[in-house]
Amino acid sequence: MTDLHAVATDLLANGRGILAIDETPGTIGGRFEKLGIESTPENRSAYRELLITTPDLGSWIGGAILQDETFSQKTTSGTTFPEELAKRNIAAGIKVDTGAKPLAGHPNEKVTEGLDGLRDRLAAYKEKGAVFAKWRAVYTIDDEVAPTPGASQANAHALARYAALCQEAGIVPIVEPEVMLEGAHSIERCAEVTANTLRGVFNELAAQRVDLRGIVLKPSMVVSGKAGEAKAGPDEVADTTLRVFAEVVPAAVPSIAFLSGGQTPVQATEHLQAMNSRGQQPWQVGFSYGRALQDDPLSIWKGDSANTEKAQEALAVRAKANAAASKGEYDASYEPAS
Ligand code: G3H
Repeated sequence: MTDLHAVATDLLANGRGILAIDETPGTIGGRFEKLGIESTPENRSAYRELLITTPDLGSWIGGAILQDETFSQKTTSGTTFPEELAKRNIAAGIKVDTGAKPLAGHPNEKVTEGLDGLRDRLAAYKEKGAVFAKWRAVYTIDDEVAPTPGASQANAHALARYAALCQEAGIVPIVEPEVMLEGAHSIERCAEVTANTLRGVFNELAAQRVDLRGIVLKPSMVVSGKAGEAKAGPDEVADTTLRVFAEVVPAAVPSIAFLSGGQTPVQATEHLQAMNSRGQQPWQVGFSYGRALQDDPLSIWKGDSANTEKAQEALAVRAKANAAASKGEYDASYEPAS
Protein backbone atom coordinates (compact mmCIF):
# COMPACT_ATOMS: atom_id res chain seq x y z
CA MET A 1 0.00 0.00 0.00
CA THR A 2 1.31 3.47 -0.87
CA ASP A 3 2.51 5.46 2.13
CA LEU A 4 0.69 8.69 1.31
CA HIS A 5 2.33 10.60 4.14
CA ALA A 6 5.81 9.64 2.91
CA VAL A 7 4.97 10.72 -0.66
CA ALA A 8 3.41 14.03 0.47
CA THR A 9 6.49 14.74 2.60
CA ASP A 10 9.09 13.64 0.04
CA LEU A 11 7.67 15.88 -2.69
CA LEU A 12 8.99 18.95 -0.85
CA ALA A 13 11.84 17.40 1.16
CA ASN A 14 15.27 19.07 1.21
CA GLY A 15 14.05 22.23 -0.47
CA ARG A 16 12.89 20.52 -3.65
CA GLY A 17 9.63 21.79 -5.14
CA ILE A 18 7.06 20.98 -7.81
CA LEU A 19 7.21 22.01 -11.46
CA ALA A 20 3.69 22.62 -12.78
CA ILE A 21 3.61 21.91 -16.52
CA ASP A 22 -0.01 20.81 -16.64
CA GLU A 23 -1.52 23.58 -18.74
CA THR A 24 -4.28 22.35 -21.02
CA PRO A 25 -3.61 22.61 -24.77
CA GLY A 26 -5.82 25.73 -24.72
CA THR A 27 -3.86 27.48 -21.98
CA ILE A 28 -0.38 26.64 -23.24
CA GLY A 29 -1.61 27.43 -26.75
CA GLY A 30 -2.40 31.00 -25.63
CA ARG A 31 1.11 31.37 -24.18
CA PHE A 32 2.68 29.90 -27.33
CA GLU A 33 0.64 32.23 -29.53
CA LYS A 34 1.99 35.33 -27.77
CA LEU A 35 5.51 34.19 -28.73
CA GLY A 36 4.61 33.11 -32.25
CA ILE A 37 4.98 29.39 -31.47
CA GLU A 38 2.57 27.08 -33.26
CA SER A 39 0.58 25.04 -30.73
CA THR A 40 0.73 21.49 -32.09
CA PRO A 41 0.92 18.27 -30.02
CA GLU A 42 4.52 17.88 -31.26
CA ASN A 43 5.56 21.38 -30.17
CA ARG A 44 3.87 20.97 -26.78
CA SER A 45 5.69 17.67 -26.29
CA ALA A 46 9.04 19.11 -27.40
CA TYR A 47 8.64 22.02 -24.97
CA ARG A 48 7.77 19.79 -22.02
CA GLU A 49 10.62 17.41 -22.89
CA LEU A 50 13.04 20.35 -22.92
CA LEU A 51 11.87 21.32 -19.43
CA ILE A 52 12.04 17.91 -17.78
CA THR A 53 15.40 16.99 -19.33
CA THR A 54 17.09 20.09 -17.91
CA PRO A 55 20.40 18.88 -16.46
CA ASP A 56 20.29 18.36 -12.67
CA LEU A 57 16.58 19.23 -12.48
CA GLY A 58 16.08 16.51 -9.87
CA SER A 59 18.32 18.44 -7.45
CA TRP A 60 15.67 21.16 -7.13
CA ILE A 61 12.43 19.55 -8.30
CA GLY A 62 10.77 16.60 -6.54
CA GLY A 63 7.60 16.34 -8.63
CA ALA A 64 6.20 17.49 -11.97
CA ILE A 65 2.50 17.90 -12.71
CA LEU A 66 1.54 16.78 -16.19
CA GLN A 67 -1.63 17.12 -18.23
CA ASP A 68 -3.50 14.23 -19.85
CA GLU A 69 -1.98 14.83 -23.30
CA THR A 70 1.61 14.83 -22.00
CA PHE A 71 1.02 11.77 -19.85
CA SER A 72 0.61 9.57 -22.91
CA GLN A 73 3.11 11.30 -25.21
CA LYS A 74 6.53 9.79 -25.83
CA THR A 75 9.78 11.70 -25.50
CA THR A 76 12.37 11.56 -28.28
CA SER A 77 14.04 8.69 -26.37
CA GLY A 78 10.86 6.65 -26.86
CA THR A 79 9.99 6.72 -23.15
CA THR A 80 6.86 8.16 -21.58
CA PHE A 81 7.09 11.37 -19.57
CA PRO A 82 6.48 9.58 -16.22
CA GLU A 83 9.33 7.18 -17.08
CA GLU A 84 11.64 10.04 -18.02
CA LEU A 85 10.80 11.80 -14.73
CA ALA A 86 11.38 8.64 -12.69
CA LYS A 87 14.92 8.38 -14.14
CA ARG A 88 15.59 11.78 -12.59
CA ASN A 89 14.05 10.90 -9.23
CA ILE A 90 11.12 13.23 -9.95
CA ALA A 91 7.60 11.99 -9.10
CA ALA A 92 4.95 12.22 -11.81
CA GLY A 93 1.68 13.99 -11.07
CA ILE A 94 -1.45 14.41 -13.14
CA LYS A 95 -4.03 17.19 -13.34
CA VAL A 96 -7.37 15.39 -13.08
CA ASP A 97 -9.89 18.23 -12.89
CA THR A 98 -11.58 19.10 -16.16
CA GLY A 99 -11.50 22.83 -15.60
CA ALA A 100 -13.28 25.68 -13.82
CA LYS A 101 -16.72 26.32 -15.35
CA PRO A 102 -19.27 29.09 -14.68
CA LEU A 103 -21.28 28.26 -11.54
CA ALA A 104 -25.00 28.52 -12.20
CA GLY A 105 -26.67 31.33 -10.27
CA HIS A 106 -23.32 32.90 -9.34
CA PRO A 107 -22.25 35.52 -11.90
CA ASN A 108 -18.44 35.77 -12.31
CA GLU A 109 -17.78 32.74 -10.13
CA LYS A 110 -16.67 29.27 -11.16
CA VAL A 111 -16.80 25.72 -9.93
CA THR A 112 -14.24 23.12 -10.93
CA GLU A 113 -15.61 20.01 -12.62
CA GLY A 114 -14.25 16.50 -13.13
CA LEU A 115 -15.67 14.17 -10.49
CA ASP A 116 -17.63 11.99 -12.93
CA GLY A 117 -15.62 8.87 -13.74
CA LEU A 118 -12.72 10.06 -11.59
CA ARG A 119 -12.27 6.76 -9.74
CA ASP A 120 -11.58 4.96 -13.04
CA ARG A 121 -9.35 7.73 -14.41
CA LEU A 122 -7.24 7.68 -11.24
CA ALA A 123 -6.78 3.92 -11.49
CA ALA A 124 -5.64 4.26 -15.12
CA TYR A 125 -3.20 7.08 -14.31
CA LYS A 126 -1.77 5.14 -11.39
CA GLU A 127 -1.17 2.19 -13.69
CA LYS A 128 0.79 4.55 -15.97
CA GLY A 129 2.96 5.90 -13.16
CA ALA A 130 1.07 8.74 -11.44
CA VAL A 131 2.17 9.21 -7.85
CA PHE A 132 0.15 12.33 -7.12
CA ALA A 133 -2.70 14.32 -8.66
CA LYS A 134 -3.90 17.90 -8.79
CA TRP A 135 -7.28 19.64 -8.73
CA ARG A 136 -7.46 23.44 -8.93
CA ALA A 137 -10.41 25.43 -7.60
CA VAL A 138 -10.53 29.16 -8.33
CA TYR A 139 -12.05 31.74 -6.02
CA THR A 140 -12.96 35.12 -7.47
CA ILE A 141 -12.28 37.89 -4.96
CA ASP A 142 -13.73 41.39 -4.72
CA ASP A 143 -14.24 43.89 -1.92
CA GLU A 144 -17.85 43.05 -1.16
CA VAL A 145 -19.47 39.91 -2.50
CA ALA A 146 -17.06 37.34 -3.85
CA PRO A 147 -16.37 34.65 -3.03
CA THR A 148 -20.00 33.91 -2.19
CA PRO A 149 -20.84 31.15 0.29
CA GLY A 150 -22.38 29.11 -2.54
CA ALA A 151 -19.25 29.18 -4.70
CA SER A 152 -16.94 28.55 -1.76
CA GLN A 153 -18.94 25.58 -0.58
CA ALA A 154 -19.27 24.02 -4.04
CA ASN A 155 -15.53 24.26 -4.67
CA ALA A 156 -14.52 23.01 -1.24
CA HIS A 157 -16.89 20.06 -1.55
CA ALA A 158 -15.50 19.08 -4.96
CA LEU A 159 -11.89 19.40 -3.71
CA ALA A 160 -12.68 17.10 -0.80
CA ARG A 161 -14.51 14.49 -2.93
CA TYR A 162 -11.51 14.49 -5.30
CA ALA A 163 -9.02 14.19 -2.44
CA ALA A 164 -10.89 11.25 -0.92
CA LEU A 165 -10.95 9.42 -4.28
CA CYS A 166 -7.20 10.02 -4.74
CA GLN A 167 -6.38 8.59 -1.34
CA GLU A 168 -8.62 5.58 -2.01
CA ALA A 169 -6.55 5.00 -5.19
CA GLY A 170 -3.22 5.34 -3.35
CA ILE A 171 -2.46 8.70 -4.98
CA VAL A 172 -1.52 11.85 -3.05
CA PRO A 173 -3.95 14.68 -3.81
CA ILE A 174 -2.67 18.18 -4.30
CA VAL A 175 -5.51 20.30 -2.96
CA GLU A 176 -5.39 23.65 -4.75
CA PRO A 177 -7.73 26.42 -3.65
CA GLU A 178 -6.57 29.52 -5.54
CA VAL A 179 -7.76 32.94 -4.46
CA MET A 180 -7.20 34.96 -7.61
CA LEU A 181 -4.63 37.74 -7.87
CA GLU A 182 -6.94 39.68 -10.20
CA GLY A 183 -8.72 42.57 -8.50
CA ALA A 184 -8.00 45.79 -6.65
CA HIS A 185 -8.43 44.31 -3.15
CA SER A 186 -6.10 45.02 -0.24
CA ILE A 187 -3.86 42.41 1.38
CA GLU A 188 -6.18 42.51 4.42
CA ARG A 189 -9.15 41.55 2.22
CA CYS A 190 -7.08 38.75 0.71
CA ALA A 191 -6.22 37.55 4.23
CA GLU A 192 -9.88 37.45 5.21
CA VAL A 193 -10.92 35.61 2.05
CA THR A 194 -8.01 33.15 2.22
CA ALA A 195 -8.78 32.31 5.85
CA ASN A 196 -12.47 31.70 5.07
CA THR A 197 -11.60 29.69 1.96
CA LEU A 198 -9.19 27.43 3.81
CA ARG A 199 -11.62 26.97 6.72
CA GLY A 200 -14.23 25.81 4.23
CA VAL A 201 -11.80 23.45 2.50
CA PHE A 202 -10.63 21.85 5.75
CA ASN A 203 -14.22 21.43 6.96
CA GLU A 204 -15.08 19.55 3.77
CA LEU A 205 -11.87 17.48 3.87
CA ALA A 206 -12.85 16.39 7.39
CA ALA A 207 -16.42 15.58 6.28
CA GLN A 208 -15.06 13.38 3.48
CA ARG A 209 -12.63 11.67 5.89
CA VAL A 210 -9.51 12.76 4.06
CA ASP A 211 -6.29 11.95 5.92
CA LEU A 212 -4.55 15.31 6.17
CA ARG A 213 -1.17 13.61 6.60
CA GLY A 214 -1.42 12.41 3.00
CA ILE A 215 -2.20 15.62 1.11
CA VAL A 216 -0.21 18.52 -0.28
CA LEU A 217 -1.93 21.89 0.06
CA LYS A 218 -1.31 24.17 -2.92
CA PRO A 219 -2.68 27.59 -2.01
CA SER A 220 -2.17 31.13 -3.19
CA MET A 221 -0.11 33.45 -1.02
CA VAL A 222 -1.84 36.31 0.78
CA VAL A 223 -1.04 39.29 -1.43
CA SER A 224 -2.50 42.61 -2.59
CA GLY A 225 -4.71 42.52 -5.68
CA LYS A 226 -2.93 43.02 -8.99
CA ALA A 227 -4.95 46.12 -9.91
CA GLY A 228 -4.72 47.78 -6.49
CA GLU A 229 -2.58 50.82 -5.87
CA ALA A 230 -0.97 49.83 -2.56
CA LYS A 231 1.17 46.74 -2.95
CA ALA A 232 2.42 44.82 0.08
CA GLY A 233 6.13 44.00 -0.02
CA PRO A 234 7.74 40.60 0.66
CA ASP A 235 7.88 41.02 4.46
CA GLU A 236 4.20 41.89 4.74
CA VAL A 237 3.25 39.10 2.34
CA ALA A 238 5.29 36.59 4.34
CA ASP A 239 4.01 37.68 7.76
CA THR A 240 0.37 37.91 6.69
CA THR A 241 0.45 34.59 4.83
CA LEU A 242 2.08 32.76 7.73
CA ARG A 243 -0.35 34.31 10.23
CA VAL A 244 -3.40 33.22 8.24
CA PHE A 245 -2.02 29.74 7.65
CA ALA A 246 -1.04 29.30 11.31
CA GLU A 247 -4.66 30.09 12.22
CA VAL A 248 -6.37 27.72 9.82
CA VAL A 249 -4.08 25.02 8.38
CA PRO A 250 -3.73 22.00 10.70
CA ALA A 251 -0.19 20.90 11.54
CA ALA A 252 -1.10 17.40 10.31
CA VAL A 253 -0.66 18.68 6.74
CA PRO A 254 2.97 17.84 5.88
CA SER A 255 3.54 20.11 2.90
CA ILE A 256 2.34 23.46 1.60
CA ALA A 257 3.43 24.11 -1.99
CA PHE A 258 2.46 27.63 -2.99
CA LEU A 259 1.34 28.48 -6.53
CA SER A 260 2.70 31.60 -8.20
CA GLY A 261 -0.63 32.79 -9.61
CA GLY A 262 0.68 35.58 -11.86
CA GLN A 263 3.44 36.94 -9.61
CA THR A 264 6.66 37.65 -11.49
CA PRO A 265 9.27 34.89 -11.24
CA VAL A 266 11.50 36.92 -8.92
CA GLN A 267 8.57 38.06 -6.72
CA ALA A 268 7.46 34.44 -6.25
CA THR A 269 10.99 33.52 -5.14
CA GLU A 270 11.32 36.54 -2.82
CA HIS A 271 7.99 35.80 -1.14
CA LEU A 272 8.97 32.17 -0.57
CA GLN A 273 12.34 33.25 0.80
CA ALA A 274 10.72 35.76 3.18
CA MET A 275 8.43 33.04 4.56
CA ASN A 276 11.21 30.53 5.06
CA SER A 277 13.49 33.12 6.66
CA ARG A 278 10.99 33.20 9.57
CA GLY A 279 12.22 29.81 10.80
CA GLN A 280 10.53 26.45 11.01
CA GLN A 281 6.77 26.20 10.47
CA PRO A 282 4.40 23.32 11.31
CA TRP A 283 4.49 22.29 7.63
CA GLN A 284 7.18 22.30 4.92
CA VAL A 285 6.76 25.56 2.98
CA GLY A 286 7.72 25.20 -0.67
CA PHE A 287 6.64 25.84 -4.22
CA SER A 288 4.56 24.35 -7.01
CA TYR A 289 5.03 27.01 -9.64
CA GLY A 290 3.91 27.09 -13.23
CA ARG A 291 4.49 30.53 -14.73
CA ALA A 292 7.14 31.58 -12.18
CA LEU A 293 9.32 28.67 -13.33
CA GLN A 294 8.39 28.66 -17.00
CA ASP A 295 8.13 32.32 -18.06
CA ASP A 296 11.88 32.70 -18.65
CA PRO A 297 12.58 29.36 -20.41
CA LEU A 298 9.50 29.66 -22.62
CA SER A 299 10.35 33.15 -23.81
CA ILE A 300 13.92 32.05 -24.58
CA TRP A 301 12.92 28.83 -26.37
CA LYS A 302 10.39 30.42 -28.74
CA GLY A 303 9.82 27.07 -30.46
CA ASP A 304 13.38 26.90 -31.83
CA SER A 305 15.51 23.89 -30.87
CA ALA A 306 18.64 26.03 -31.26
CA ASN A 307 17.56 27.75 -28.03
CA THR A 308 17.09 24.57 -25.99
CA GLU A 309 20.24 24.82 -23.93
CA LYS A 310 19.70 28.48 -23.00
CA ALA A 311 16.07 27.77 -22.10
CA GLN A 312 17.13 24.88 -19.86
CA GLU A 313 19.70 27.11 -18.17
CA ALA A 314 16.93 29.63 -17.44
CA LEU A 315 14.73 26.94 -15.89
CA ALA A 316 17.69 25.72 -13.81
CA VAL A 317 18.26 29.26 -12.49
CA ARG A 318 14.66 29.56 -11.27
CA ALA A 319 14.41 26.01 -9.93
CA LYS A 320 17.67 26.43 -8.00
CA ALA A 321 16.64 29.85 -6.65
CA ASN A 322 13.29 28.52 -5.43
CA ALA A 323 14.92 25.46 -3.86
CA ALA A 324 17.21 27.85 -1.98
CA ALA A 325 14.21 29.99 -0.97
CA SER A 326 12.48 26.86 0.35
CA LYS A 327 15.35 26.58 2.82
CA GLY A 328 15.54 30.33 3.56
CA GLU A 329 18.89 30.54 1.76
CA TYR A 330 18.05 32.60 -1.34
CA ASP A 331 19.67 35.95 -2.05
CA ALA A 332 20.39 38.15 -5.07
CA SER A 333 23.47 36.10 -5.97
CA TYR A 334 21.10 33.42 -7.38
CA GLU A 335 19.96 35.86 -10.08
CA PRO A 336 22.03 36.11 -13.26
CA ALA A 337 23.86 39.40 -13.73
CA SER A 338 21.85 41.48 -16.20
O1 G3H B 1 -2.87 25.47 -11.36
C1 G3H B 1 -1.96 26.23 -11.56
C2 G3H B 1 -0.59 25.78 -11.72
O2 G3H B 1 -0.41 24.49 -11.27
C3 G3H B 1 0.33 26.74 -11.01
O3 G3H B 1 0.55 27.73 -11.93
O4 G3H B 1 2.21 28.98 -10.60
O5 G3H B 1 1.37 29.79 -12.81
O6 G3H B 1 -0.11 29.83 -10.80
P1 G3H B 1 1.04 29.18 -11.50
